[in-house]
Amino acid sequence: MRTEICDQLGIEYAIFAFTHCRDVVAAVSKAGGLGVLGAVGFTPDQLETELNWIDENIGGKPYGVDIVMPATSAGVDGADAESLYAQIQAMIPDAHRRFVDELMIKFDIPELPEGEQAGGVLGWAEGVARAHVDISFGHPIKLIANALGSPPKDIIDRAHAEGVKVAALAGKAQHAQRHVNNGVDIVIAQGSEAGGHTGEIGTMVLVPEIVDAVPGTPVLAAGGIGTGRQIAAGMALGAQGAWLGSLWLATTESSSSPEHLERYLEATSSDTVRSKCYTGKPARQLRSVWTDAWSDPEGPGPLGMPLQNILTAEANARIARSHRKDLQFIPVGQIVGQMNSVRPVRDVMFDLVNEYIEAVERLSAGLQG
Ligand SMILES: Cc1cc2nc3c(=O)[nH]c(=O)nc-3n(C[C@H](O)[C@H](O)[C@H](O)COP(=O)(O)O)c2cc1C
Repeated sequence: MRTEICDQLGIEYAIFAFTHCRDVVAAVSKAGGLGVLGAVGFTPDQLETELNWIDENIGGKPYGVDIVMPATSAGVDGADAESLYAQIQAMIPDAHRRFVDELMIKFDIPELPEGEQAGGVLGWAEGVARAHVDISFGHPIKLIANALGSPPKDIIDRAHAEGVKVAALAGKAQHAQRHVNNGVDIVIAQGSEAGGHTGEIGTMVLVPEIVDAVPGTPVLAAGGIGTGRQIAAGMALGAQGAWLGSLWLATTESSSSPEHLERYLEATSSDTVRSKCYTGKPARQLRSVWTDAWSDPEGPGPLGMPLQNILTAEANARIARSHRKDLQFIPVGQIVGQMNSVRPVRDVMFDLVNEYIEAVERLSAGLQG
């Protein structure tokens, strides 16, 4: 499972782990893959703390950071989080506020305790994402990835000057070509099966399309990968490695809540939907009473990014506090159907590598005699 990209990044196996959890980052990198910390949910100060922890606990192994800078957002920007937040609040229609209030009453969700506030996720606002980038460059990262487009040119140039590889997710061949024209080094071809923000084209179709569209650029296969057989399939399609997100959510090191874990373990591959109800862009998650309410043709439907998340921030915090697992936002991909036990990252990595070897040997054996 060693490809060129492994040498470039100093890793043993071409397995990349997207995760919001620093313990998973450290465990994957120590097991020979590359842990990549998702920064979007952290304030800049929190990100600094997480990266300091990783530096102290990763045993000198390489790791990366993932930021979320949308190529387009609903016309808001600003230097600091507070003014951004105020701008966004002013753009939210009253009908949408009323709809959320009515859902809270309908589902009987208690108010937040006094003094507790929910600000929503601002990590995808350019000002905040830039602060994430500045902090990340203060640490020995080997890779910076962007979820929603190519990072701006100055960030790509800065990464290259610091010897850091730049990766970007792509859900279409045109996105991949644009990334490469913008100077991105690694394209993550993420198929529709994936958890979180995702497009419409399945991994099986997308990966070879992207590999052919960007000759000479390493491509990682993502979306629906949770076994060594699926990694082998991604490599057979022309990828240089696999980028996995959902699988790590059900590991011992993950910070997943007990309710989320319970739902991963019971869900089948039919239980996810793509919905705009959390961020305003389609994100794959477990279907819930909440996703159903937002897809109801009688309702107002979700707003764009970043309005929808700010609109629903307090509701989401109230739902999380209520521990109502039928209503919570639980992003995960279709591979959830194979997430049937909670295991340490080291064991998961061991199985992925071994199953990959078995699959490749089985296919090679078919060529002999
Ligand atoms: C809970 C969750 C949150 C995610 N958040 C991000 C994110 O902030 N940035 C990003 O680049 N990708 C994000 N992704 C997508 C992953 O990077 C990855 O492409 C995807 O999980 C791969 O498909 P899989 O879920 O089938 O493994 C997220 C995925 C999940 C499951």
